[in-house]
Amino acid sequence: MTAQMPKMQRLLRVGEAFRPAAPVDDLELFAGRDKQRDEVIGAVAQIGYHVGLYGERGVGKTSLARVLAAIFSQVDLERFQSVMVNCSTDSTFETLWGDIFRRMEIEVHELSPEGVRAALEGLPGRALIVVDELDRLEDDESLTLLADTIKTLSDHAVGATVMLVGVATSIDGLIGEHASIVRNLAQIEMPRMLPDELRAILQKGCDHVGLRIESPAQETIIRLSEGLPHYTHLLGYRAAERAVQDDRNVIGLNDVNAAIPKAVEGHTIQNDYHRAIRSSQPGNLYREVLLACALAPKDELGYFTSGQVREPLEIIAGRRLEIPAFAKHMNEFLSPTRGSVIRREGKPRGYSYRFSDPMMQPYVIMSSLDAGLVTDDQLIAMQTRFASSPTHDDPTEPEPLF
Ligand SMILES: Nc1ncnc2c1ncn2[C@@H]1O[C@H](COP(=O)(O)OP(=O)(O)OP(=O)(O)O)[C@@H](O)[C@H]1O
Ligand SMILES: [Mg+2]
Repeated sequence: MTAQMPKMQRLLRVGEAFRPAAPVDDLELFAGRDKQRDEVIGAVAQIGYHVGLYGERGVGKTSLARVLAAIFSQVDLERFQSVMVNCSTDSTFETLWGDIFRRMEIEVHELSPEGVRAALEGLPGRALIVVDELDRLEDDESLTLLADTIKTLSDHAVGATVMLVGVATSIDGLIGEHASIVRNLAQIEMPRMLPDELRAILQKGCDHVGLRIESPAQETIIRLSEGLPHYTHLLGYRAAERAVQDDRNVIGLNDVNAAIPKAVEGHTIQNDYHRAIRSSQPGNLYREVLLACALAPKDELGYFTSGQVREPLEIIAGRRLEIPAFAKHMNEFLSPTRGSVIRREGKPRGYSYRFSDPMMQPYVIMSSLDAGLVTDDQLIAMQTRFASSPTHDDPTEPEPLF
């Protein structure tokens, strides 16, 4: 059926299926995340429970929240309402709840924790209220009031669930020191996506367009995505677009290879990358050292040591370089003049490093591949050898939250 679709229509479908810049809200295109989805549903089902969903930037937090909001809106047994609001740097407790109640079409005069509780108690049915991008909220007092609201909603067994969503490495990082509400808060971590979940994104996207993807093409996209669905969508989009433009029904490795320069060029992160590696000195090593950082083995939170940069750097530079030869580069990556592309923690001799923006790591790899800094074969060898992505069924002990 889809093979007969006019090209224009197929191209529109490619754009619907692969959307690197927008969260997914369509269940048909939403892939994986069964565990996290079930955890949220379990918490919402239990009155008095609320949700804190946290993870790295770009792992799919908003998509999960949106899809769940859509699922709950379809529940017609109870009159279930879902509403989503976003925090910005100048949001306050009052602006957030003002926004929430406006969307729910309820007039509330007292925007205090008890006022909010009373208003939600008066709802005819259940509600899911998602507060997204909580990490952007700068006003501490508002966070305290939000925590107090969750506490009073729990204490009074109100049938509205608040779901706090944001970028953080722990629930503590998301809500600060509000220990009192934690016993009522399901703490759900969004890790990077597993290869199978990324495969499902490609499969669902291809089904939507009526395309098939060959295995080497699929596996290359998955390897380059490093668990971040944004890159799966971006490469999927460019590769699918090329196949459709050529009136083909199959995406091959050539399409993916041709997609890489298009994915790299004009990406929002491109300027940051160039700022990090710029130098007028011939033979400088900024690009090589940053690529070695991107390929260094990492722990489950993305940290690596300078010792771990040495091995990939030897392969990339074609010669052994000891730490003093690239320590200057690592130090400069920390500085604002290079956009603080790398962050450092710990004490001298025990420093660990990580990319400030997780999106940068796959970008560095793709950009370097495009620029010929590494070959496909070298990359595959290094990604296999230094593979450090955590397997989710082998979780390391989480750090204590409070
Ligand atoms: N489960 C999924 N299935 C298919 N695509 C997904 C899924 N999760 C995320 N994506 C895609 O990945 C990209 C990032 O998703 P999303 O915006 O939801 O992430 P996020 O964690 O909210 O990011 P940020 O931290 O920047 O707010 C989007 O292109 C989205 O379409
Ligand atoms: Mg988001």
